[in-house]
Amino acid sequence: DFDAFDISEELGFILEEPLTQLPDYYRVWLDLANNLTHLIETRKLRDVVHKMPILSPHHLSNHRELRLAHLALGFISMGYVWQEGQHEPAQILPKALAWPYWLISRRLGLPPILTYADSVLANWKLKDPTGDMEIGNMDLIFSFPGGETCRGFFMVSLLVEMAASSGITGSLEVMHAMKISNLIGIQKGLIKVTQSLKKMKETFQLMHNHVEANTFHGTLRIFVSGWRDNPMLPRGLLYEGVSNEPVLLSGGSAAQSSAIQCFDALLCIQHEDETGAFLTRMRDYMPPAHRQLIETLSVCPSLRDFITTCSDSDLCQAYNSCVSSLVDLRSYHLKTVAKYVTVPGNRARAMGCPLRGVGTALNTTGTGGSNLMVFLKTVRNTTQKALILER
Ligand code: HEM
Ligand code: ALA
Repeated sequence: DFDAFDISEELGFILEEPLTQLPDYYRVWLDLANNLTHLIETRKLRDVVHKMPILSPHHLSNHRELRLAHLALGFISMGYVWQEGQHEPAQILPKALAWPYWLISRRLGLPPILTYADSVLANWKLKDPTGDMEIGNMDLIFSFPGGETCRGFFMVSLLVEMAASSGITGSLEVMHAMKISNLIGIQKGLIKVTQSLKKMKETFQLMHNHVEANTFHGTLRIFVSGWRDNPMLPRGLLYEGVSNEPVLLSGGSAAQSSAIQCFDALLCIQHEDETGAFLTRMRDYMPPAHRQLIETLSVCPSLRDFITTCSDSDLCQAYNSCVSSLVDLRSYHLKTVAKYVTVPGNRARAMGCPLRGVGTALNTTGTGGSNLMVFLKTVRNTTQKALILER
């Protein structure tokens, strides 16, 4: 199972030991990506990109090399498009970026834009390789402007994802126990998922120690924004040498994390209408093997129906605890979004639109393109409705 869905027992959907080097032929890409913050801040990135040679992607030979190349080209592309702030996005991605990025993306089954699978799942390294995977011993491979806020945002997301790994294992255990109607197995698996969700929420709180709201909103957020559902690039971005029409692609968002969607699928929480459509569309931004796990879980016989029918009160309680923990996590997430998006957004608007930063355009729209508060509340409320009322 772990191999089929490209997941790891300890790290879940996180890429294990991401590479930080590519064959020497690709030195230009890595030099640029490694120096990105400086090039953006001195507003030299676009000029440097215009001098980039067109490299063939064919010397990349394995999954981890492709992931690093996708990550590097993603960071460079976001920097290129948003270097001058929200009011002057680039409309065209030059061929030296667009063409190899397009082909690499096709090989990975990912879209040619920076995704959560890049910026979080594949963007980490250990400072001391013999040490532990904890925030003090970890660093990002590539960064955007924003200093510790940038590092903290991606790193805490990674730690939350790590806390989700036992929940993924638990979900697989529930799925197998269901097949043989093993009630104890189902209950044990659900308890594991609940514990994992609690750990995720606890870990999420680290955001407040590492991420400063105004820096997040005014400096970092623009660089994860995309070119779909974005009023700054309403028609999308033209990938030179690849397509004649601009392409619409959503920006990075933890809505692209496979973990929570797996838990929804396991617990039979079905999001409908616009909300459901957005979450389903976000699956296009996940590595195909991870997407497959969500789909496998969603076509299993309904766990919720099974539990309602067998009316075993321990089992029902295990299911409800799990749903409650997910509601809790989503409520906590909502509060965090108010702090990091709504409050600084209102402040920026009150002070008049700043030249740099997202300013007002994305105050009510997430970087993924959702109508954020309405969307997030709908998702949370739908989760709550899955609770089984005991008779
Ligand atoms: C969705 C903001 C951290 C998980 C969203 C959305 C926003 C947002 C605005 C709406 C979708 C969009 O258009 O992008 C934030 C902010 C964060 C943060 C400001 C931190 C400062 C996290 C973390 C997780 C997470 C660490 C990990 C669990 C999700 C999920 C969704 C989502 C799963 C999809 C909606 C759902 O399934 O409940 N986030 N997020 N977010 N975020 Fe976050
Ligand atoms: N999706 C997060 C936001 O909209 C990053 O700010």
